[in-house]
Amino acid sequence: MLNIIAKAEQNHDLSKDEIVKLLATDEYNQELFAAADRVRKRFVGDEVHLRGLIEFSNICKQNCLYCGLRRDNHRLKRYRLTVEQIIDFARKAKSYGYKTIVLQSGEDSSFDVPTMQHIIREIKALDMALTLSIGEKTREEYAAYKEAGADRYLLRIETTDKALYEALDPGMSFENRMRCLRDLKELGYEVGTGCLVGLPGQSLESLADDILFFKEIDADMIGVGPFIPNPDTPLHGEKGGTFTLSLKVMAITRLLMPDINIPATTAMESLDPNGRIIALRSGANVVMPNVTEGEYRQLYAIYPGKICINDTPARCRSCITGKINGIGRKVSAGYGYRQKKKIG
Ligand code: SAM
Ligand code: SF4
Ligand code: FES
Repeated sequence: MLNIIAKAEQNHDLSKDEIVKLLATDEYNQELFAAADRVRKRFVGDEVHLRGLIEFSNICKQNCLYCGLRRDNHRLKRYRLTVEQIIDFARKAKSYGYKTIVLQSGEDSSFDVPTMQHIIREIKALDMALTLSIGEKTREEYAAYKEAGADRYLLRIETTDKALYEALDPGMSFENRMRCLRDLKELGYEVGTGCLVGLPGQSLESLADDILFFKEIDADMIGVGPFIPNPDTPLHGEKGGTFTLSLKVMAITRLLMPDINIPATTAMESLDPNGRIIALRSGANVVMPNVTEGEYRQLYAIYPGKICINDTPARCRSCITGKINGIGRKVSAGYGYRQKKKIG
């Protein structure tokens, strides 16, 4: 097993079999995490990029079985921020020193193209990088957001197992998800994707396929998080993913994709109180603190136990800076675009 880790650290290449072997044993986890940490340091350095996350609407027309925002969850009080609120939160995030805004929401059609373009232009006028995470759209819509100035897009493939994807995301098609990722790449976005770990019916082989898929499409960012069962969804009785397996998928992704941006995800910290710091020491180099204010934090209830729901943007900013400095790393003053390096 140690030779597989050494090979990945040196060549950034593994076969599916080798990935499955790594995922199947916990005996060499510390060696795996240490190797991913070295690769992170060598390729993307010690700086941590902060992205200020605005969760601007929890209204969604989709019905993903795992997600608390799904349209059939009638227990959730719904909200959408006004355009002014969104721009105001972005302005405040800038005053806290953020260089990137991530706008995330359910698939809420009331934010039409002209509205999104207006929001994008206003935020870009603040001299910030802008990431969108608003789901599946047409190529024309993606082109319109790009034209207005959006820089990056996050759209997790969730799982590369087509049958599992279509079972868990009723009414959505795997082909369309792939089409979205392809369009985003072609339109010149920095593209982030990723997967959920521990979905019912997901195998280690399937997780290995996910990692190889990330590499194949040359994603610029990869977010890996445990699936956390939500009591208000059809998957309420499921076991969910573990912190350790999620961390391993993330660490192997770093070994194979040394120069990309990898967030220490909020869902990881929701399972382990020190989850993001452990992730930052196992290959991650990005954190996405919440800059949404007030009750909206609680209402963006994707899964239970979400961190920071009673905190303020100011508190999260100083909390995360303290934690990052506490492990001898520092918050980046740059925009944090992917710096492509020669691999190998
Ligand atoms: N609607 C957009 C989309 O689906 O791409 C963006 C918002 S969606 C809430 C963001 C991510 O939340 C999804 O890509 C999914 O991986 C994650 N998510 C949904 N339900 C989850 C759960 N129960 N546990 C952990 N993560 C979950
Ligand atoms: Fe909607 Fe995204 Fe949740 Fe699916 S994962 S229900 S698209 S918010
Ligand atoms: Fe929100 Fe620590 S990041 S309180």
